[in-house]
Amino acid sequence: MITTVATKPIAGQKPGTSGLRKKTPVFMGRHYLENFTQAIFDVVGAAGKTFVLGGDGRYFNDRAAQVILRMAAANGAARVIVGQGAILSTPAASHLIRLNKTDGGIIMSASHNPGGPEEDFGVKFNMPNGGPAPESVTEAMFQRTTELTEYRIVEAQDVDLNTVGRQTLGGMIVDVVDPVSDYAALMETLFDFPALRALFAGGFRMRMDAMCAVTGPYAVEILENRLGAAKGTVTHETPLPDFGGMHPDPNPTWAHELMAEMMGDNAPDFGAASDGDGDRNMVVGRGIYVSPSDSLAVLAANAHLAPGYARGLAGVARSMPTSAAADRVADALGIAKFETPTGWKFFGNLLDAGKVTLCGEESFGTGSDHVREKDGLWAVLLWLNILAVRKQSVAQILSEHWAKYGRNYYSRHDFEAIATDKADAMITALRATLADLPGQVVEGMTITAADDFAYTDPVDGSVSARQGVRIIFADSSRIVMRLSGTGTEGATLRVYLERYAAGPDGLDLDPQEALAPVIRAAHGLARLTEFTGCTAPDVVT
Ligand code: G6P
Ligand code: ZN
Repeated sequence: MITTVATKPIAGQKPGTSGLRKKTPVFMGRHYLENFTQAIFDVVGAAGKTFVLGGDGRYFNDRAAQVILRMAAANGAARVIVGQGAILSTPAASHLIRLNKTDGGIIMSASHNPGGPEEDFGVKFNMPNGGPAPESVTEAMFQRTTELTEYRIVEAQDVDLNTVGRQTLGGMIVDVVDPVSDYAALMETLFDFPALRALFAGGFRMRMDAMCAVTGPYAVEILENRLGAAKGTVTHETPLPDFGGMHPDPNPTWAHELMAEMMGDNAPDFGAASDGDGDRNMVVGRGIYVSPSDSLAVLAANAHLAPGYARGLAGVARSMPTSAAADRVADALGIAKFETPTGWKFFGNLLDAGKVTLCGEESFGTGSDHVREKDGLWAVLLWLNILAVRKQSVAQILSEHWAKYGRNYYSRHDFEAIATDKADAMITALRATLADLPGQVVEGMTITAADDFAYTDPVDGSVSARQGVRIIFADSSRIVMRLSGTGTEGATLRVYLERYAAGPDGLDLDPQEALAPVIRAAHGLARLTEFTGCTAPDVVT
């Protein structure tokens, strides 16, 4: 039953920040998925192993699952645990890998990128710890794609992925599992569900926008069925192959329906949204947006109010472009703090080593040591738990937080679909100026340091260089620039802007106003318009 198919290397199968992402037609092209899947199995070994498989339900998810299953069987895997309908949110997949002590898992998703026949698809491998494969592994997979001559696949009928239960494919066991139940059970161990039920029973109103993506079934089960939030609290709750045409990225630009409701009359007490594969979150209070960097800081300062974190935190980690708000909390708590490159995979070693409990990124990712991915719904539940205990509004919690720690005004400006050569030229030119920047005064602010961030992993000693240019000013203001590693079209330039206000005055400005001099400095120092032709960002978060 096993067929060995001759193939040739396909150029460009290099995983980025989070797995291999391409336009769907590219992934559906001849041998494309098969080659990459074979490279995965060749690198990690499949014989006798158990894997988890699932995806965010986007277009081609179901077909890709059948191909990956047949290839797992042909490569000798013993067992694959698949979410019903080939559906698993990324955090739920991470949990299943850990819960079942499997040899890893394959997640089919392009995360927050749109889905559909002409949009994006992706595949990534997660390790036995439940976390994304580190660079050494993804690099080996890429190398393998450049030398492949064949792949192995079983000829068979489709596995019935719609029915929970055990089947076999070739000699391999396929266990189709409910995608939600184990994840929901994990959440019950971390949060005070009775207190949350009481919160909703007391009239607390919430809106959760699942953006027609994978979080819908998880949010309906946990928020509405188990916690008693009003029916209809979760909107866009049915995962659709094209996400209903929505761009499933929870930020103020793409989750504009939620933003409009939360800023409008009669807004609910609390709003949240999540992305295509359920690992991102955006949190909004009535009339107030919570920046992801502030969210991480508030969660770090208050996590002990939830049962799963009552013993306190070992430490907090944030990606380098994320604001330093969480650092101030870590210092006040006297716990360790870490600054990593962009990409959740860099948190894995810190979590495994018990050095940190909470992690977060400016890109709407927050998580803890309960899994090895960021986790959108987890962040929402932690916020709810904090709101239930403190009995205050989101706005009150934020203003008390800023009064205590000061406020790290923060914004990210994205310039999308720039010609790659232009973006590269700009970054190269900027890098060349870095050594001369310290001491210069720009927009009235003195530059104290400028470098290209390099990270030495404190656990395994691996070094990741050139992770983003950063320019730091004497007043703690900061500019970071890097090119996105998750885009599929041209280059996306990300400009991260930060300015610290110690208070007590000046804590209530519009972030764009507070950051205006930093924004001007960024454009000037990088000669942004000159190199790229862009004048205004496409997305502001
Ligand atoms: C994914 C990763 C995150 C990362 C984000 C932005 O969501 O899991 O860790 O922060 O992409 O990456 P990018 O390279 O596009 O800035
Ligand atoms: Zn995601």
